[in-house]
Amino acid sequence: MGSRLSKLRGAERRIESLDELRQVEGTPAPAPPAPSIPSPQQDEEEGYVPPEKHRTSAKVAELRRRLRPKLLSSPDEFDQMSARNPEHRQVIKQRLQTLIQRSGIQLTQEEYTALEEAIVNDLLGFGAIEPLVQERSYSEIMVNGPEIIFAERKGKLTETQTVFDDEDHVQWTAQRIVRPLQRDLSRRNPMVDARLPDGSRVHIVMPPAALCGTTITIRKFPEKRLTWRDLVNFGSFTEDVARFLEACVKIRMNIVVSGGTGSGKTTLLNVISSFIPEDERTITIEDSAELQLSQRHVVRLETCPPMAGTNEGALTIRDLVKGSLRMRPDRVVVGEIRDGAAMDMLQAMNTGHDGSLTTVHANGPREAVARLETLCMMAGMDIPVDVIRAQIASAINLFVQQARLKDGSRKIIQITEVQGMEGSNITLQDIFVYKMPGQTSLQPSHEGGGSLIPTGMRPRVAERFEEAGIELPRGIWGKPNFNA
Ligand SMILES: Nc1ncnc2c1ncn2[C@@H]1O[C@H](COP(=O)(O)OP(=O)(O)O)[C@@H](O)[C@H]1O
Ligand SMILES: [Mg+2]
Repeated sequence: MGSRLSKLRGAERRIESLDELRQVEGTPAPAPPAPSIPSPQQDEEEGYVPPEKHRTSAKVAELRRRLRPKLLSSPDEFDQMSARNPEHRQVIKQRLQTLIQRSGIQLTQEEYTALEEAIVNDLLGFGAIEPLVQERSYSEIMVNGPEIIFAERKGKLTETQTVFDDEDHVQWTAQRIVRPLQRDLSRRNPMVDARLPDGSRVHIVMPPAALCGTTITIRKFPEKRLTWRDLVNFGSFTEDVARFLEACVKIRMNIVVSGGTGSGKTTLLNVISSFIPEDERTITIEDSAELQLSQRHVVRLETCPPMAGTNEGALTIRDLVKGSLRMRPDRVVVGEIRDGAAMDMLQAMNTGHDGSLTTVHANGPREAVARLETLCMMAGMDIPVDVIRAQIASAINLFVQQARLKDGSRKIIQITEVQGMEGSNITLQDIFVYKMPGQTSLQPSHEGGGSLIPTGMRPRVAERFEEAGIELPRGIWGKPNFNA
């Protein structure tokens, strides 16, 4: 029976866990460890008390594992169905009922309900984390192996009470996620990054690379991207700054949003892109499509991996950036620049594709410049660094620095204009900087409770606003302040 089970689970499954071996040998599986309630001592030592876990009882977990494959006529039978659909759930419930009745397994009502829920989630959805996936307020879910699952809601990341039964259960779920996407997750291809049909993004890494067991990261597709109004209401930037950014887009400045992971770069890029006039042809290029532009004349492109088991059919950001230039774009928006594509993007910006937008991973405008230099060198074109620097200085007009502050809020902390070159250095001028009340240092603060204020320097681009007939609020550049 054990061997039949493992066959049903797909040819790649081998008997790997001790549990499974015991089952094959006909000995009962041991009860899973008791819920891990930390002792007060542990609390004192480590200062962090993990939440009490909601564990499936050993009996239900064992049944779930054994019955799961028996309810399927083929391993992918329900892959196109969803746990959100009551009719689909009903099909599984009915089959389960028949199976339980025939097999004579004795269950209490409570056990039966738990088993039903568990099986439905395993066959139709994301297994143990299905409730987290369905709960709208969670924006991100992170499975660090079977025992530790974190989730983010309203910007706050906390450990959840959810656990998988074991590594086998996480693997089952991972396979259930990738199969409908026609992607292969196996020892041959142990890492998968993919977009789900609803636009959410999923990333999976398997052991042995993932040391704590199969690791799943899901970033849910926001139902609605935040607008500039939302961000102003959150205090991420001021209305003056929104008007300034809008003006910059209108006069086709090339803008780079920089920031760390999860700082809000994509959200800000989306907001800045929303200022692109309706009649301009925009091409968006992303690793994983996240942008939601409301304009009609938008072509969305996404990188794609090679076909399973081959090196063919892949398209990288670089391929797409080069290709996009033959598509008569007015604007190119690149989700994030990570490699030699930086060079292609700069060349595009320098050859008449003004008004392009992108993001880069950096902790400040200076660092963003350095990062772009490094990325350009990765293009392997053997161009001297001075030339690259000159390209950067002439291509990019503005850096907007986004950050997640110590209090968890996400804000613009620096807006910096590229002035040009002085010798072999790029000169930068801050226009807005986020500061705490009474702060004298020039560097932006990372504390909550400050504000994004003008430095008192009128940017060079102000002239171009005037030429274009764009009026900005009076006093937007602030009082000249020679300390700033
Ligand atoms: N200014 C903001 N205020 C509050 N939440 C934000 C803000 N910007 C982004 N977020 C939220 O933060 C999370 C990460 O944002 P995202 O733009 O994807 O970051 P990044 O692209 O830098 O990784 C998302 O859930 C997003 O809704
Ligand atoms: Mg992003």
